[in-house]
Amino acid sequence: MSIFVTGCCGYIGSHTCVELLSQGYDVVGLDNFSNSSPVVLDRICEITDKRVRFYEGNMLDEKILNKIFEENSIECVIDFAAYKAVGDSVRKPVEYYINNVSSVLTLLSVMKKHDVKGIVFSSSATVYGEPEFIPLTEEARTGGTTNPYGTSKLMVEQILKDLYVSDNSFKICILRYFNPIGAHPSGIIGEEPNGIPANLVPYIAKVASGELKQLSVYGDDYPTPDGTGVRDYIHVVDLAKAHINGIEKLARSDGGLYIYNLGTGKGYSVLDIIHTYEKVNGVKIPYQIAPRRSGDVAENYADPTKAREELGWQAELTLEDMCRDSYNFVKHYNR
Ligand code: UFG
Repeated sequence: MSIFVTGCCGYIGSHTCVELLSQGYDVVGLDNFSNSSPVVLDRICEITDKRVRFYEGNMLDEKILNKIFEENSIECVIDFAAYKAVGDSVRKPVEYYINNVSSVLTLLSVMKKHDVKGIVFSSSATVYGEPEFIPLTEEARTGGTTNPYGTSKLMVEQILKDLYVSDNSFKICILRYFNPIGAHPSGIIGEEPNGIPANLVPYIAKVASGELKQLSVYGDDYPTPDGTGVRDYIHVVDLAKAHINGIEKLARSDGGLYIYNLGTGKGYSVLDIIHTYEKVNGVKIPYQIAPRRSGDVAENYADPTKAREELGWQAELTLEDMCRDSYNFVKHYNR
């Protein structure tokens, strides 16, 4: 039996393939390289000494999905294939809804046809919109998303809930990620955003390597301890491991829909990140205070209790690990 990973060459997909292969799972992967590269397949192999059984293609293509389900005995799907840039989604809503929502509908209809009923879905803390309370539990109100990316995640969550109502034998695990950062400790895989990064840590990494001159800190007048935005940063390796716990949970289940927040439960400010990055890597991150970025909330962090109690998972790596591994990845390919 194999695990089918869509978006297997992307940032979180590739780290999850490493964890799956290391734990002895057979992995079938699909990617269209819209925001990733084929070299990642070799890099996964370099780390694990094992290969993903890879198909190149788009999840909107029913033909390739049928072929994958015919040629492999798929036990469970982990769906990472999606566009993820918030600003981009505002400019290209149609493309985002097609790629992030229609593709899941295609996947689910093919899964139904082949009687595969297990799916772990990559969702996001963005589905909570303006947080109802902090720390966020899974019971907090969702909705009020402020961009098509966030709305696409919310829509898929609703589709999965409706699917489960229609057929209780589906096994569905929705994972709401907080802020994944860092890279595999080997430095061989990590996050490689196209163009100028919109997210904090990828931007800092480029300042540290000298590719970008300075960071803009978006706002220092939030009601937080140092005035800058607070988020729940989680090491991508911890996050990847949670998917294995998700698969194991589904394997034990006769049917169910489970939702978990994946975060550390700790909030760090933008200045905390800058100072930790500087300290652990011995670099200087020049920054200037800039106006607030529209759509940002002051503070957002998870209550990860449910994942600990029901999945037996908790984040283990520290902010120091996240910052060190982020820069280690940058250095690995700048040597
Ligand atoms: N920030 C800066 N300067 C930058 C980039 C970011 O000061 O150049 C600040 C932001 O204002 C925010 C913090 O750093 O306070 C984190 O910003 P990110 O863009 O790294 O992350 P967000 O919390 O805005 O968004 C992330 C993901 C989204 C996801 C969301 C879920 O990027 O995909 O978490 O909560 F939807």
